Amino acid sequence: MNIYHNKKDLNSYVEHLKVNKKSIGFVPTMGALHLGHASLIEKGMQQNDIVVVSVFVNPTQFDNQDDLLKYPRTLDSDVELLQEISKHKIIVYAPTVKDIYGDNVKATSFSYDGLEHEMEGRFRDGHFDGVGTIVKRLFEIVRPDRAYFGEKDFQQLMIIKKLVEKHHMPVKIVGCKIHRANDGLAMSSRNSRLKPEYRKAAPFIYKTLNVAKEKFGANSANKVTEWVEKQFAKHDLLELEYFIIADVNTLKTVKRKSNKKTYRGFIAVYADDIRLIDNIALN
Ligand code: PAJ
Repeated sequence: MNIYHNKKDLNSYVEHLKVNKKSIGFVPTMGALHLGHASLIEKGMQQNDIVVVSVFVNPTQFDNQDDLLKYPRTLDSDVELLQEISKHKIIVYAPTVKDIYGDNVKATSFSYDGLEHEMEGRFRDGHFDGVGTIVKRLFEIVRPDRAYFGEKDFQQLMIIKKLVEKHHMPVKIVGCKIHRANDGLAMSSRNSRLKPEYRKAAPFIYKTLNVAKEKFGANSANKVTEWVEKQFAKHDLLELEYFIIADVNTLKTVKRKSNKKTYRGFIAVYADDIRLIDNIALN
């Protein structure tokens, strides 16, 4: 398996693929790979000749330095997992911070027509500027035909679609379903840091989302939101940061339901000091 640590070497490989008219799928990640990432990679392999997987913990998208420092970095086992998936169709790009940012580790400011002000944007200052900066740079380096993003980070997926549209980037963004553990917990690199009692408690998030979905049919968005808030207020270990029912296109919190619109419930929860997010289609 080819592993590149700098963009110059990756560039010549990409050039070689382009000359040979090979299609490139791209899965950007921050590593600590799990089966959620694998599901994106597998979709990429079905649709492209080669899949580039980037592994880069992007400093500019963290608003919390402690979270950045503690983010799991496991390149060796990541490569092992990728080799199990495919030795020949996958290329790894694991750059250094310097290779991406030089000496200027700063995010560019982006407007995503308001999508950036909702949910995660409200609670994680500058997060989507950091995400836009890294994803735009990675697209310029990897030059993919298609790029794969999980609905686990639904707002991120919508923001990347907006970024590509606004900057006329020649890449198709493919959204992929949320991959879950058997007990329903959405897979996440952060799950590996959960203490056992918190890992045991965490499936409560998805269970609650499912009941919220059932309730959404007959109740107002406000009622359902209050109900979710109550469930977490009663919970000993999990602390709710937000639960919001939003229009999938604008990501704005719904005030009055309309049959013509599609809604999702979005949630962020603290399990000890670890922040978990999830979401569910409601109609
Ligand atoms: P990371 O959290 O590593 O996620 C990489 C990709 O995997 C994202 O598109 C994310 O939505 C997807 N993913 C993670 N868990 C998933 C799950 N359980 N099911 C389906 N897809 C899942 O998201 C990032 O990294 C970064 O912000 C990045 C886009 C790489 C920019 O730095």
